[in-house]
Amino acid sequence: MISGLFVTFEGPEGAGKSTLVRSLAARYEAEREVLVTREPGAGAFGAAVRRLLLEGEDLEPRAELFLFLADRAEHVSGIVRPALARGALVLCDRHADSTVVYQGYGRGLDRAQLRAWNAFATQGLTPHLTILVDVPTEVGLARVTESNRLDAESLEFHRRVRQGFLTEAAAEPDRWVLVDGTQPLEAVLIEAAGAIERLFATAGA
Ligand code: TYD
Repeated sequence: MISGLFVTFEGPEGAGKSTLVRSLAARYEAEREVLVTREPGAGAFGAAVRRLLLEGEDLEPRAELFLFLADRAEHVSGIVRPALARGALVLCDRHADSTVVYQGYGRGLDRAQLRAWNAFATQGLTPHLTILVDVPTEVGLARVTESNRLDAESLEFHRRVRQGFLTEAAAEPDRWVLVDGTQPLEAVLIEAAGAIERLFATAGA
C-alpha cells in the first residue's frame, strides 16, 4: 500500500537538482517525514554500483544499463516503497526517466524496451510528479565541478540528453513540471515547491 508521495528530479548535468532537493526537504521536514534519496547510489548496494558506474572503465552500454536497473530495483524495493508505505514524501534525485534519456536518447538503446525494463525494475512504481530542471547544455556542463564517466561524454551526447528530457516532459505533461534552472535558486525553489504543493492538494496530503 502506497500512502506517501514519490517526487523525482531530472535534468541534464549541472542543472542544480541536488541543491534544490536539499532546500525542498528543509521546507517540508517539520510537517511530514521526508526521505531524500538518489539514483544511482542509495544504500550500501547502491554505493557499490555507483562506483562501478561512475568511476570505472568504459562500459558496454548494455552492461551500464543493467547496473542502473539493478541499483533501481534494489532502491525501489528496499528504500522507496517502505518509505511510501509509511506515508513519507520521497524526493529522489534521478530515477527511471534518466535511463530512458541517457541510455535511450544518449546511447541509442531502444526506448520502448527501456520503458519495459524500468517497469520490471520498479515493479510498476511511477512517480506522482517529476520536476525537470532544465538548463542549456553548455551552461550545465560549465557548472560541473567533479566530472564522472558520464559527464565526460561528448557535447553531442549531452545535447541529445537535454533534448530527450524536454521531449519526455512534453509527452507526459500531467506528470512532468518544467522549471528553468538558469534562474536563481530561490526562483527555482518557489516553482518546484508550487508543483509539490499542488500535488499535496490533489492527493489530500
Ligand atoms: P550524478 O553525479 O548523480 O549526476 P548528477 O549530479 O548530474 O545527477 O551522476 C549520475 C550520472 O548517471 C549522470 O550523468 C546521469 C547518469 N544516469 C544514467 O545514465 N542513467 C540512469 O538511469 C541514471 C539514474 C543516471
